[in-house]
Amino acid sequence: MKICVIGTGYVGLVTGACLADFGNSVVCMDKDNKRVKMLQKGKVPFHEPGLPELVLSNIKAKRLCFTRDLGAAIMDSEVIFITVGTPPKPNGEADISSVIEVAKKIAKSIKGERNIPSSSELSFKIIVNKSTVPVGMGDIVTKTLLEHGVPEEAFSVVSNPEFLREGSAISDFFKPDRIVIGASNNRAFNVITELYRPLNAHIIFTDIKSAELIKYASNSFLATKISFINEMANICERVGSDVNEVAAAMGLDKRIGRQFLNAGLGYGGSCLPKDVAALTHLARIKGYDPKLLSSVSAINEYQASSFVKKVLKKLGKVRNKKIAVLGLAFKPGTDDLRESSAVKVVNALLKKGAKVRVYDPVSEKGARKLVPGAVFCPSVYEAAEKVEAIIVATEWPEFRELDLAKMRKLVRQPLIFDGRNIYHPQKVRDEGFEYVGVGR
Ligand code: UGA
Repeated sequence: MKICVIGTGYVGLVTGACLADFGNSVVCMDKDNKRVKMLQKGKVPFHEPGLPELVLSNIKAKRLCFTRDLGAAIMDSEVIFITVGTPPKPNGEADISSVIEVAKKIAKSIKGERNIPSSSELSFKIIVNKSTVPVGMGDIVTKTLLEHGVPEEAFSVVSNPEFLREGSAISDFFKPDRIVIGASNNRAFNVITELYRPLNAHIIFTDIKSAELIKYASNSFLATKISFINEMANICERVGSDVNEVAAAMGLDKRIGRQFLNAGLGYGGSCLPKDVAALTHLARIKGYDPKLLSSVSAINEYQASSFVKKVLKKLGKVRNKKIAVLGLAFKPGTDDLRESSAVKVVNALLKKGAKVRVYDPVSEKGARKLVPGAVFCPSVYEAAEKVEAIIVATEWPEFRELDLAKMRKLVRQPLIFDGRNIYHPQKVRDEGFEYVGVGR
């Protein structure tokens, strides 16, 4: 199948590369010239395990290419994916201007193409919205195309939300729990089903508005699980229980499940915070006050700030004290720093005058301007030199395997704040450190 993907962020690029890997002919379009040039050389502009190899092999096999020319990109394509960003506005509302801009450009290109008589056979297009959008966006895209003169019989709009996680996006794509296809007719549904046939996945056929809400509901539920366990952690600290024990036992109940029950500094990234805020906003403008969602966000904001308070309480004044923060990315496996709790912690400590020494395996380059004043170190051990405390802020696997005996000799004060509960408290104490976790 001939496919066009508009937007080469992590959703667009992963979708494009994986669909090309099935044998489809995929052209990915982005308006950023520098990015397109990089991608044409097979260079991926962000950290995502396995993606550079997949992009390169599909470029070589001539199944994947990159362009800035939207008209050319959609000219031959039967299926057009919209995968552009919908960042949050200050009031939480999703900014859908990029999606509308793309819809207008698609309309212009389809009209232009239909004026070429020889291309008439190719002229039915399926426009698939993969960007996370407020409910009703499918209708807006349809209306935009109609208003720009594209006849109703020339296209169909589909909602196909994505559930990929940064850091494991390739395996999530190839092994999805489900594929949601929101369509208003069987023709569009059948084409998109055929596209995903190689995955042999559970496919849900639903209406467009339900598909759009499934995405927000799923991310909001994941955020709810995290805030729930963080609330339990805050109660654990006050009553003397260990939240890791609580989560492990709760998770064995199949109705609950163990995933997303890791207490810590709260959720970050470009999706969970944004989507909870957008759904909250959507509910409010429709006249419903979503109390649970508001609490989910409030607990999440509390996590990082209460953790910093705990550090300050223990260390007293931190002015000019050296503190090591391990991890900056919003989670392991990515260099994405958006809404990162680790960045919040570093900045709060810098504001109090601490000398913060940071280490992250992949996100140093992007982090420099986000944590001005922090000292970047090339390894955990260098970060730990002469510090009064070590804070684990992102649970990179390498932090689990630290040589604590070596660390003990490097630090000034043996104190570990485990913001992600990755250590066994007693093992850390056995190495001579004082241990402070979250909810333990
Ligand atoms: C999330 C969803 O998990 C994906 O299904 C979805 O496709 C994606 O958003 C999206 O909308 O594009 P992602 O943002 O990559 O994926 O990150 P998650 O793995 O969901 O983690 C989000 C945050 O929650 C991280 O900061 C992580 O550290 C935190 N988290 C996660 C916890 O604090 N505790 C947990 O138990 C799990």
